[in-house]
Amino acid sequence: MLVLGIESSCDETAAAVVEDGRRVLSDVVVSQIDVHREFGGVVPELASRKHVEVISVVVQKALSLAGIEASRIDGIGVTRGPGLIGSLLVGIAAAKGMAFALDKPICGVHHLHGHLFAAFLEREDIAFPFVGLVVSGGHTSLFHVRGPLDIELVGKTRDDAAGEAFDKVAKLLGLGYPGGIVIEERAAGVDPGKLSFPRALMNEGVLDFSFSGLKTAVLRHVEERFGVERDKSVPGSFHPLIRWDQSPDAGAAVAEISAAFQDAVTDVLTAKGYLAAERYAVDKLIVCGGVAANSLLRRKMLHEGERRGIEPVFPSKRLCTDNAAMIAARAEVLLAAGLADNLDFDARSRW
Ligand code: KG4
Ligand code: ZN
Repeated sequence: MLVLGIESSCDETAAAVVEDGRRVLSDVVVSQIDVHREFGGVVPELASRKHVEVISVVVQKALSLAGIEASRIDGIGVTRGPGLIGSLLVGIAAAKGMAFALDKPICGVHHLHGHLFAAFLEREDIAFPFVGLVVSGGHTSLFHVRGPLDIELVGKTRDDAAGEAFDKVAKLLGLGYPGGIVIEERAAGVDPGKLSFPRALMNEGVLDFSFSGLKTAVLRHVEERFGVERDKSVPGSFHPLIRWDQSPDAGAAVAEISAAFQDAVTDVLTAKGYLAAERYAVDKLIVCGGVAANSLLRRKMLHEGERRGIEPVFPSKRLCTDNAAMIAARAEVLLAAGLADNLDFDARSRW
Protein backbone atom coordinates (compact mmCIF):
# COMPACT_ATOMS: atom_id res chain seq x y z
CA MET A 1 0.00 0.00 0.00
CA LEU A 2 1.22 3.53 -0.79
CA VAL A 3 0.36 5.87 2.06
CA LEU A 4 0.75 9.63 2.15
CA GLY A 5 1.50 10.86 5.67
CA ILE A 6 0.96 14.42 6.84
CA GLU A 7 2.22 15.83 10.15
CA SER A 8 1.71 19.33 11.55
CA SER A 9 1.19 18.89 15.29
CA CYS A 10 3.85 21.33 16.46
CA ASP A 11 6.47 23.32 14.60
CA GLU A 12 7.35 21.00 11.74
CA THR A 13 5.31 20.79 8.55
CA ALA A 14 5.91 17.37 7.09
CA ALA A 15 4.69 15.03 4.38
CA ALA A 16 5.98 11.63 3.30
CA VAL A 17 5.12 8.69 1.10
CA VAL A 18 5.71 5.25 2.60
CA GLU A 19 5.19 1.90 0.93
CA ASP A 20 3.83 -1.03 2.96
CA GLY A 21 4.58 0.76 6.22
CA ARG A 22 8.31 0.11 5.80
CA ARG A 23 9.86 1.74 2.74
CA VAL A 24 10.20 5.51 2.82
CA LEU A 25 9.83 6.81 -0.75
CA SER A 26 9.96 10.45 0.31
CA ASP A 27 10.19 12.33 3.58
CA VAL A 28 9.89 16.13 3.55
CA VAL A 29 10.17 18.18 6.74
CA VAL A 30 10.06 21.96 6.90
CA SER A 31 11.10 23.17 10.33
CA GLN A 32 9.95 26.47 11.80
CA ILE A 33 12.67 26.56 14.41
CA ASP A 34 14.07 29.88 13.17
CA VAL A 35 10.63 31.49 13.45
CA HIS A 36 10.27 30.53 17.11
CA ARG A 37 13.87 30.85 18.29
CA GLU A 38 13.69 34.54 19.12
CA PHE A 39 10.69 33.86 21.38
CA GLY A 40 12.47 31.06 23.23
CA GLY A 41 9.78 28.50 22.42
CA VAL A 42 7.00 27.61 20.00
CA VAL A 43 4.42 30.39 19.54
CA PRO A 44 1.17 28.59 18.58
CA GLU A 45 -0.29 31.37 16.39
CA LEU A 46 2.90 31.72 14.41
CA ALA A 47 3.12 27.96 14.06
CA SER A 48 -0.31 27.54 12.48
CA ARG A 49 0.25 30.47 10.14
CA LYS A 50 3.52 28.95 8.94
CA HIS A 51 1.87 25.57 8.41
CA VAL A 52 -0.75 27.23 6.20
CA GLU A 53 1.97 28.88 4.13
CA VAL A 54 3.91 25.73 3.33
CA ILE A 55 1.61 22.72 3.63
CA SER A 56 0.62 22.47 -0.05
CA VAL A 57 4.20 22.79 -1.23
CA VAL A 58 5.39 20.22 1.30
CA VAL A 59 2.76 17.69 0.19
CA GLN A 60 3.48 18.28 -3.50
CA LYS A 61 7.20 17.90 -2.87
CA ALA A 62 6.67 14.60 -1.02
CA LEU A 63 4.66 13.25 -3.97
CA SER A 64 7.12 14.43 -6.58
CA LEU A 65 10.17 13.10 -4.69
CA ALA A 66 8.40 9.75 -4.42
CA GLY A 67 7.81 9.95 -8.17
CA ILE A 68 4.10 9.28 -7.98
CA GLU A 69 0.93 11.05 -9.01
CA ALA A 70 -1.45 11.85 -6.17
CA SER A 71 -4.02 9.55 -7.76
CA ARG A 72 -1.74 6.54 -7.17
CA ILE A 73 -1.74 6.72 -3.37
CA ASP A 74 -3.90 4.16 -1.62
CA GLY A 75 -4.65 6.19 1.50
CA ILE A 76 -3.77 9.17 3.67
CA GLY A 77 -2.72 9.31 7.31
CA VAL A 78 -2.64 12.60 9.17
CA THR A 79 -1.72 13.46 12.73
CA ARG A 80 -4.94 13.98 14.68
CA GLY A 81 -3.31 14.79 18.01
CA PRO A 82 -2.05 15.41 20.58
CA GLY A 83 -0.55 18.76 19.64
CA LEU A 84 -1.28 22.43 19.08
CA ILE A 85 -4.88 22.64 17.95
CA GLY A 86 -4.37 25.35 15.32
CA SER A 87 -1.40 23.49 13.87
CA LEU A 88 -3.17 20.13 13.80
CA LEU A 89 -6.14 21.65 12.00
CA VAL A 90 -3.97 22.79 9.10
CA GLY A 91 -2.67 19.29 8.39
CA ILE A 92 -6.07 17.72 8.90
CA ALA A 93 -7.78 20.19 6.53
CA ALA A 94 -5.16 19.54 3.85
CA ALA A 95 -5.46 15.77 4.28
CA LYS A 96 -9.25 15.78 4.21
CA GLY A 97 -9.26 17.97 1.10
CA MET A 98 -7.05 15.49 -0.72
CA ALA A 99 -8.97 12.47 0.54
CA PHE A 100 -12.22 14.00 -0.69
CA ALA A 101 -10.86 15.16 -4.04
CA LEU A 102 -9.07 11.87 -4.75
CA ASP A 103 -11.72 9.67 -3.13
CA LYS A 104 -9.15 7.88 -0.96
CA PRO A 105 -9.47 6.52 2.59
CA ILE A 106 -8.07 8.68 5.37
CA CYS A 107 -7.27 8.07 9.01
CA GLY A 108 -6.32 10.28 11.94
CA VAL A 109 -3.13 9.10 13.63
CA HIS A 110 -2.08 9.40 17.27
CA HIS A 111 1.18 11.35 17.12
CA LEU A 112 2.91 9.25 19.78
CA HIS A 113 1.88 5.98 18.13
CA GLY A 114 3.49 7.46 15.04
CA HIS A 115 6.75 7.97 16.96
CA LEU A 116 6.67 4.32 18.03
CA PHE A 117 6.15 3.12 14.46
CA ALA A 118 9.21 5.03 13.23
CA ALA A 119 11.12 1.98 14.48
CA PHE A 120 9.73 -0.16 11.64
CA LEU A 121 11.09 2.15 8.97
CA GLU A 122 14.72 1.26 9.56
CA ARG A 123 14.71 -2.24 11.01
CA GLU A 124 13.16 -5.37 9.58
CA ASP A 125 13.52 -7.26 12.84
CA ILE A 126 11.29 -5.25 15.18
CA ALA A 127 8.56 -7.55 16.42
CA PHE A 128 5.77 -7.26 18.97
CA PRO A 129 5.70 -6.97 21.90
CA PHE A 130 8.09 -4.16 22.80
CA VAL A 131 8.25 -1.19 25.12
CA GLY A 132 8.51 2.29 23.60
CA LEU A 133 9.72 5.45 25.30
CA VAL A 134 8.70 8.63 23.50
CA VAL A 135 10.72 11.48 24.90
CA SER A 136 10.41 14.88 23.26
CA GLY A 137 9.71 18.53 23.94
CA GLY A 138 6.02 17.84 24.50
CA HIS A 139 5.96 14.26 25.76
CA THR A 140 7.59 11.74 28.01
CA SER A 141 5.52 8.59 27.69
CA LEU A 142 6.07 4.88 28.04
CA PHE A 143 4.04 2.43 25.98
CA HIS A 144 3.65 -1.31 26.13
CA VAL A 145 3.14 -2.19 22.48
CA ARG A 146 1.65 -5.68 22.46
CA GLY A 147 0.52 -5.64 18.85
CA PRO A 148 -0.23 -3.21 16.03
CA LEU A 149 -3.66 -2.48 17.45
CA ASP A 150 -2.87 -3.13 21.08
CA ILE A 151 -0.89 -0.20 22.46
CA GLU A 152 -1.13 0.72 26.12
CA LEU A 153 0.17 3.88 27.75
CA VAL A 154 1.86 2.60 30.92
CA GLY A 155 3.65 5.72 32.19
CA LYS A 156 3.88 9.41 31.48
CA THR A 157 5.16 12.62 32.93
CA ARG A 158 3.06 14.15 35.67
CA ASP A 159 4.30 17.66 34.82
CA ASP A 160 7.03 18.74 32.38
CA ALA A 161 8.26 16.66 29.46
CA ALA A 162 11.98 15.84 29.56
CA GLY A 163 12.68 17.98 26.49
CA GLU A 164 10.71 20.81 28.02
CA ALA A 165 12.94 20.61 31.11
CA PHE A 166 16.02 20.77 28.84
CA ASP A 167 14.53 23.80 27.08
CA LYS A 168 13.62 25.65 30.30
CA VAL A 169 16.94 24.98 32.00
CA ALA A 170 18.80 26.08 28.86
CA LYS A 171 16.77 29.26 28.85
CA LEU A 172 17.58 30.20 32.41
CA LEU A 173 21.25 29.49 31.78
CA GLY A 174 21.17 31.87 28.82
CA LEU A 175 21.88 29.07 26.34
CA GLY A 176 19.05 29.77 23.90
CA TYR A 177 16.47 27.51 22.24
CA PRO A 178 16.09 24.62 21.65
CA GLY A 179 17.88 23.60 24.79
CA GLY A 180 18.77 19.92 24.51
CA ILE A 181 21.60 20.19 22.06
CA VAL A 182 23.23 23.22 23.73
CA ILE A 183 23.06 21.63 27.19
CA GLU A 184 24.66 18.55 25.72
CA GLU A 185 27.42 20.69 24.19
CA ARG A 186 28.11 22.58 27.44
CA ALA A 187 28.14 19.34 29.42
CA ALA A 188 30.57 17.55 27.11
CA GLY A 189 33.57 16.24 29.02
CA VAL A 190 32.44 17.80 32.31
CA ASP A 191 32.22 15.79 35.54
CA PRO A 192 28.49 15.53 36.35
CA GLY A 193 29.26 14.60 39.94
CA LYS A 194 30.15 18.09 41.17
CA LEU A 195 26.48 18.84 41.77
CA SER A 196 23.59 16.60 42.54
CA PHE A 197 20.08 17.29 41.35
CA PRO A 198 16.97 15.27 42.29
CA ARG A 199 15.75 12.22 40.41
CA ALA A 200 12.04 12.08 41.06
CA LEU A 201 9.86 8.96 41.54
CA MET A 202 12.84 6.66 41.26
CA ASN A 203 12.29 4.38 44.19
CA GLU A 204 8.60 3.77 44.00
CA GLY A 205 8.38 1.30 41.14
CA VAL A 206 6.11 3.69 39.23
CA LEU A 207 6.45 4.22 35.52
CA ASP A 208 5.42 7.88 35.65
CA PHE A 209 7.95 10.69 35.42
CA SER A 210 8.27 14.12 37.01
CA PHE A 211 10.76 16.74 35.89
CA SER A 212 9.37 19.90 37.39
CA GLY A 213 11.16 19.45 40.74
CA LEU A 214 14.46 18.97 38.93
CA LYS A 215 13.91 22.12 36.91
CA THR A 216 13.09 24.06 40.09
CA ALA A 217 16.18 22.65 41.85
CA VAL A 218 18.33 23.99 39.01
CA LEU A 219 16.57 27.34 39.27
CA ARG A 220 17.19 27.54 43.04
CA HIS A 221 20.82 26.58 42.56
CA VAL A 222 21.35 29.32 39.96
CA GLU A 223 19.54 31.90 42.12
CA GLU A 224 21.70 31.10 45.13
CA ARG A 225 24.98 30.68 43.30
CA PHE A 226 24.69 33.93 41.34
CA GLY A 227 22.58 36.03 43.73
CA VAL A 228 19.90 36.51 41.06
CA GLU A 229 16.16 35.99 41.22
CA ARG A 230 13.47 34.83 38.83
CA ASP A 231 10.82 37.37 37.86
CA LYS A 232 7.84 35.97 39.76
CA SER A 233 5.35 38.38 38.21
CA VAL A 234 4.88 35.95 35.32
CA PRO A 235 3.97 32.60 36.90
CA GLY A 236 5.84 29.64 35.47
CA SER A 237 7.90 31.74 33.10
CA PHE A 238 11.58 31.07 32.65
CA HIS A 239 13.89 33.72 31.35
CA PRO A 240 17.69 33.95 31.25
CA LEU A 241 19.09 34.58 34.74
CA ILE A 242 22.70 34.38 33.67
CA ARG A 243 24.64 34.12 30.43
CA TRP A 244 27.09 31.29 30.08
CA ASP A 245 29.50 33.59 28.19
CA GLN A 246 29.39 36.52 30.63
CA SER A 247 32.55 35.39 32.42
CA PRO A 248 34.82 32.34 32.69
CA ASP A 249 33.23 31.61 36.09
CA ALA A 250 29.75 31.66 34.60
CA GLY A 251 30.94 29.45 31.75
CA ALA A 252 32.36 26.89 34.18
CA ALA A 253 29.24 26.99 36.36
CA VAL A 254 26.92 26.53 33.39
CA ALA A 255 28.98 23.56 32.25
CA GLU A 256 28.76 21.96 35.72
CA ILE A 257 25.03 22.62 35.99
CA SER A 258 24.39 21.34 32.45
CA ALA A 259 26.32 18.15 33.15
CA ALA A 260 24.59 17.45 36.47
CA PHE A 261 21.14 18.25 35.02
CA GLN A 262 21.68 16.06 31.95
CA ASP A 263 22.94 13.27 34.21
CA ALA A 264 19.77 13.42 36.32
CA VAL A 265 17.35 13.41 33.35
CA THR A 266 19.14 10.58 31.56
CA ASP A 267 19.34 8.49 34.76
CA VAL A 268 15.59 8.73 35.18
CA LEU A 269 14.77 7.98 31.54
CA THR A 270 17.11 4.98 31.50
CA ALA A 271 15.84 3.56 34.78
CA LYS A 272 12.16 3.91 33.89
CA GLY A 273 12.62 2.61 30.36
CA TYR A 274 14.18 -0.59 31.66
CA LEU A 275 11.77 -0.85 34.59
CA ALA A 276 8.97 -1.02 32.02
CA ALA A 277 10.88 -3.34 29.67
CA GLU A 278 11.50 -5.80 32.53
CA ARG A 279 8.02 -5.50 33.97
CA TYR A 280 6.52 -6.44 30.60
CA ALA A 281 9.26 -8.96 29.83
CA VAL A 282 10.14 -7.60 26.39
CA ASP A 283 13.54 -7.83 24.74
CA LYS A 284 13.46 -4.48 22.93
CA LEU A 285 13.14 -0.94 24.23
CA ILE A 286 12.46 1.59 21.47
CA VAL A 287 13.61 5.08 22.39
CA CYS A 288 12.33 7.89 20.18
CA GLY A 289 11.52 11.61 20.16
CA GLY A 290 13.94 14.56 20.03
CA VAL A 291 15.62 13.81 23.38
CA ALA A 292 16.62 10.38 22.04
CA ALA A 293 19.32 12.27 20.12
CA ASN A 294 21.16 12.82 23.41
CA SER A 295 24.41 10.88 23.38
CA LEU A 296 24.65 10.41 27.14
CA LEU A 297 21.16 8.91 27.11
CA ARG A 298 22.20 6.58 24.30
CA ARG A 299 25.33 5.51 26.18
CA LYS A 300 23.44 4.82 29.40
CA MET A 301 20.69 2.95 27.55
CA LEU A 302 23.22 0.78 25.72
CA HIS A 303 25.14 0.07 28.91
CA GLU A 304 22.03 -0.89 30.90
CA GLY A 305 20.63 -2.86 27.98
CA GLU A 306 23.75 -4.99 27.78
CA ARG A 307 23.60 -5.65 31.50
CA ARG A 308 19.96 -6.74 31.35
CA GLY A 309 19.89 -8.51 27.99
CA ILE A 310 17.42 -6.02 26.50
CA GLU A 311 18.20 -4.21 23.27
CA PRO A 312 17.62 -0.46 23.15
CA VAL A 313 16.59 0.63 19.65
CA PHE A 314 17.11 4.23 18.57
CA PRO A 315 15.62 5.31 15.27
CA SER A 316 17.96 7.65 13.39
CA LYS A 317 17.83 11.29 14.39
CA ARG A 318 15.72 12.21 11.37
CA LEU A 319 13.07 9.66 12.32
CA CYS A 320 13.32 10.43 16.05
CA THR A 321 12.19 14.02 15.61
CA ASP A 322 8.81 14.93 14.15
CA ASN A 323 8.29 13.64 10.62
CA ALA A 324 5.48 12.35 8.43
CA ALA A 325 7.04 9.01 7.47
CA MET A 326 6.22 7.70 10.94
CA ILE A 327 2.63 8.92 10.54
CA ALA A 328 2.33 7.12 7.21
CA ALA A 329 3.81 3.96 8.76
CA ARG A 330 1.22 4.04 11.52
CA ALA A 331 -1.61 4.87 9.09
CA GLU A 332 -0.72 1.82 6.97
CA VAL A 333 -1.60 -0.43 9.90
CA LEU A 334 -4.86 1.37 10.67
CA LEU A 335 -5.98 1.50 7.04
CA ALA A 336 -5.06 -2.15 6.48
CA ALA A 337 -7.19 -3.04 9.51
CA GLY A 338 -10.15 -1.20 8.01
CA LEU A 339 -9.92 1.60 10.54
CA ALA A 340 -10.31 4.53 8.14
CA ASP A 341 -12.10 7.57 9.56
CA ASN A 342 -15.06 9.47 8.20
CA LEU A 343 -14.25 12.91 6.88
CA ASP A 344 -15.80 14.58 9.92
CA PHE A 345 -13.13 13.58 12.48
CA ASP A 346 -11.74 16.44 14.51
CA ALA A 347 -8.32 17.44 15.88
CA ARG A 348 -7.52 16.43 19.47
CA SER A 349 -5.11 18.72 21.29
CA ARG A 350 -5.07 16.15 24.12
CA TRP A 351 -5.41 12.47 23.51
O1 KG4 B 1 10.67 15.38 18.95
P1 KG4 B 1 11.08 16.81 18.87
O2 KG4 B 1 11.91 17.25 17.71
O3 KG4 B 1 9.85 17.76 18.87
C1 KG4 B 1 8.77 17.62 19.75
O4 KG4 B 1 8.90 18.08 20.90
O5 KG4 B 1 7.78 17.01 19.33
O6 KG4 B 1 11.85 17.11 20.25
C2 KG4 B 1 12.36 18.37 20.54
C3 KG4 B 1 12.93 18.31 21.94
C4 KG4 B 1 13.35 19.68 22.45
O7 KG4 B 1 12.85 19.83 23.76
C5 KG4 B 1 14.86 19.58 22.44
O8 KG4 B 1 15.48 20.38 23.44
C6 KG4 B 1 15.10 18.12 22.69
O9 KG4 B 1 14.09 17.47 21.96
N1 KG4 B 1 16.41 17.69 22.20
C7 KG4 B 1 17.38 17.19 23.00
C8 KG4 B 1 18.51 16.97 22.16
N2 KG4 B 1 18.17 17.32 20.89
C9 KG4 B 1 16.88 17.75 20.93
N3 KG4 B 1 17.40 16.94 24.30
C10 KG4 B 1 18.54 16.46 24.82
N4 KG4 B 1 19.67 16.24 24.11
C11 KG4 B 1 19.70 16.46 22.78
N5 KG4 B 1 20.81 16.24 22.08
ZN1 ZN C 1 6.73 14.41 18.33
